[in-house]
Amino acid sequence: MSNNTLPRRVEVRAPATVANLGAGFDILGMALETPYDVIIAERTDTPGVQIKSINGDGGRLPLEADKNTAGIAAQAVLDQLGIKDTGACLTLHKGLPLASGLGSSAASAAGGAAAVNALYGSKLSAEDLIPAAVEGEAAVSGRHADNVAPALMGGIVLVTGVRPDQCYRLPTPPTLWLTIVTPEVAVPTKEARAVLPNQIALGTMVKQTASAALLIHALHSGDLRLLGQAVEGDGVIEPARAHLMPGLEAIRAASRERGALATIISGAGPTLCAFSASKSTADRVLEGMFHVFYEMGIGFSTQVSRPGTQGVVVKVLE
Ligand code: HSE
Repeated sequence: MSNNTLPRRVEVRAPATVANLGAGFDILGMALETPYDVIIAERTDTPGVQIKSINGDGGRLPLEADKNTAGIAAQAVLDQLGIKDTGACLTLHKGLPLASGLGSSAASAAGGAAAVNALYGSKLSAEDLIPAAVEGEAAVSGRHADNVAPALMGGIVLVTGVRPDQCYRLPTPPTLWLTIVTPEVAVPTKEARAVLPNQIALGTMVKQTASAALLIHALHSGDLRLLGQAVEGDGVIEPARAHLMPGLEAIRAASRERGALATIISGAGPTLCAFSASKSTADRVLEGMFHVFYEMGIGFSTQVSRPGTQGVVVKVLE
């Protein structure tokens, strides 16, 4: 394809993701319908990646492309496509709060990768972009694909490695609703990973494996009650991180009282995510969360969302 027939400017929407889903540490993640980041990318005659501006980040993200997750992922796609003479310029609009457990760095990385792919003829599939997005993610939060894979592919994804053929779309329950609450406390993923145990007892491993397996079964059978039981069956990661998550037990109790099936830590936290079987329940759960954090005097934001069946969405602007 000649450069004249390629898009000049594209817009990419890159969704938030809830990773781990309880016992699926580093192997399960789910895309959300909202919130999302928006990335505008332009093809340039200069080689490499530039970042023109970033907004919505409070000035906290680096503009240097080789230090920015979106920039690193975008450059990795240029390399993957063998493009050396021309490049891309990115403008990032952060819709996701940073260091909140909603996959902000993954959304940037997935969006940067998808934007460059679109500018250069969309030769790569969503799965093909996973390794490039992991490069971006690794700069901030470690080499794991449980956020970038669902951000690219949509739905709920099982991640057994960082190669495209190691990521599998699982059934996404159509009636699942999520209530998300993000307290105003930053928990950088690196710190939340540093508190995890290096070793666990065999009996703990058996219970953890059983919860993860039950979760997969619940998704395949579409049994939301079982799904709730499975996601709350994490006996390793949540106990180690609970002290970093203000209000976890009170939020879980208030959510259950209002009909939620389960409450989990989203990613590395501090966002908490409650699962419900209907929108009306998810709305009631939101009120309960509101009361808990209001009483605790902690600033927070809440929203009701649902699993996003699409991952990154690309629109050609010019
Ligand atoms: N699986 C990762 C963790 C997700 O829990 O550390 C971080 O976004």
